Amino acid sequence: MRHRTKVDLPSDDKRWKMVQGTMRRNGFRPDALIETLHTCQEAFGYLDDEALLFVSRALHVSPSKVYGVATFYHFFNLKPQGEHTCAVCTGTACYIKGAQDIIDTLSEQYDIAPEQTTEDDKLSLMTVRCVGACGLAPAVVLDGEVLGNVTPDQMRQHIDEVMNHDDV
Ligand code: FES
Repeated sequence: MRHRTKVDLPSDDKRWKMVQGTMRRNGFRPDALIETLHTCQEAFGYLDDEALLFVSRALHVSPSKVYGVATFYHFFNLKPQGEHTCAVCTGTACYIKGAQDIIDTLSEQYDIAPEQTTEDDKLSLMTVRCVGACGLAPAVVLDGEVLGNVTPDQMRQHIDEVMNHDDV
């Protein structure tokens, strides 16, 4: 059976279109849940409340079931606890344009591996697969804002700025 849905996307962030694309390909059927959560995680690096509730509404699956699945499978990451989140895109276009250098620089600078949070819980470093801004490669999403054509040093500066802003 095919479910129709009119659920609005949570924002005009293009990544929601990718999530919606996975649901559409599956006819918005509830059994697309795991695949849809995978797409969400690939796009955002983790699953937060907004994503889980959106998927719940769009696939007509109860929030408790969606949360249950997201917490049961170890391959899903719930929103990291860092105050700031830096998600480096490792999709093909960004990879070719130096995403790995950005990851290596940030890992060294903040002493964390990808998918980890600093000990003081200030920064979580994530990787994502294509944030829909390939023309701006390499792209990084810092606290929800897509930054394009960035160098490792620029990213270090951007992160220092948002972290220092907290101390003011
Ligand atoms: S591959 Fe990075 S935005 Fe598409």
